[in-house]
Amino acid sequence: MKTVLLHDNYGINEEGHFTVCGYDTVKLAKEYGTPLYLLDADKVRKMAGIYTECAKKYFKNAKILFASKALSFKKIYKLAESAGLCADTVSPGEIYTALEAGFDPKKIYFHGNNKTYEEIEYALSNGIGYFVADNEVEIENIEAACVKLSKKADVILRVTPGIDPHTHEKIATGKVDSKFGVAIETGQAMEFVRRTLSKKNITLCGIHCHVGSQSFDPQPFLDAADIMMKFIYDVKKECGYTLEILNLGGGFGVRYLPEQTNLDIEYMLKEISARIKANCEKYGIDEPEVCFEPGRSIVAAAGVTLYTVGNVKTITGYKSYISIDGGMADNPRYALYKAPYYCLIADKADKDMDFRADVAGRCCESGDLIQENVFIQKPDIGDVLAVCVTGAYNYSMSSNYNRLCKPALVMLSKDKVEIGVKRETFEDLVRNDE
Ligand code: LLP
Repeated sequence: MKTVLLHDNYGINEEGHFTVCGYDTVKLAKEYGTPLYLLDADKVRKMAGIYTECAKKYFKNAKILFASKALSFKKIYKLAESAGLCADTVSPGEIYTALEAGFDPKKIYFHGNNKTYEEIEYALSNGIGYFVADNEVEIENIEAACVKLSKKADVILRVTPGIDPHTHEKIATGKVDSKFGVAIETGQAMEFVRRTLSKKNITLCGIHCHVGSQSFDPQPFLDAADIMMKFIYDVKKECGYTLEILNLGGGFGVRYLPEQTNLDIEYMLKEISARIKANCEKYGIDEPEVCFEPGRSIVAAAGVTLYTVGNVKTITGYKSYISIDGGMADNPRYALYKAPYYCLIADKADKDMDFRADVAGRCCESGDLIQENVFIQKPDIGDVLAVCVTGAYNYSMSSNYNRLCKPALVMLSKDKVEIGVKRETFEDLVRNDE
């Protein structure tokens, strides 16, 4: 088997080395050390551009919010803002990072299913654009914070349309039985609307739902659009109030493996737009402002993680393990979700992938694997092993388990290479220890 280049920013150079954004990953590993997160900033801009272009082309008024839980550090907010994106944040930490990067607070949306009063005050006093309120307790707290700070808040309500996105159970977030949002089906969402409308300092702007993650199928989004548009109509009928924003969340799929295809984002957004327009006609209502919150599909393919191969162990009659100098601390997704990844030996990228092995991390537990039972080039000690499509939910979900320092993150563009996040040091590890 030959190496498959999963995305258009990946390549193989004359030396047979794997490249990202035209840069030789073997050289980058040498220069910056491993483990190393690479992020192709040009690819991020390109993906953002596809969304913003489609937003203009197919919708009367649409906004693209980068779901920054997928990847959060200062320069990614700068990049996102310059690419015309707003930011979906889920914690004061993400808000703080965005603000430190100079992100316009009005373009920040504050999500989360259990915002504390203090967090709400923090967001309000920093002038963030919208709260996406998950429940009635938050509405009470937002109103109380508004009174205390003499401010007004723009609020979007998170509701659950009751759709099973047929995806991995742990990342299915739009069903009725969900810790997120308030169900439409049970009538509780309408109560949520009424309660919000009764608050003097809150402007109810719209509704939000998120039907899952890593979806290649337009159907869950179309079903969600139908249910949400009907709800907008019902609110108008029952409360005489027009909800102006329809936020359909994120969840667009990304190619992690050769057997998957690249999602046609334009097709997805075009279909969703047609469905929204059809509903507007059906219910005689104006087209709302539509928001999408892609995270993974903006940054995943832009990322590649580089490791150095240590031990290669073959258990006679069983299997082989390739041990690398990172693992679940920098990428917990296989350990958590059995998430698929494509691995290759970067300095032998032009060679056949005929060696079957598990790629094992360095943490002290047997579940610390990056991938099991993959075919990869036969490695030698000291080779660079690349794990592809790691731009989303890797750095943002990394930990210091086993007191490992988090890797550096290097950003690549055609015209420059820059550090996005410095490699952690031992001093960083003990910074808060008394
Ligand atoms: N909006 C909301 C409200 C969300 O809950 C999420 C993801 C997104 C947007 C972005 O979804 P995306 O476009 O990135 O699929 N840690 C898991 C993913 C959890 C996603 C949770 N919500 C993983 O590593 O796969």
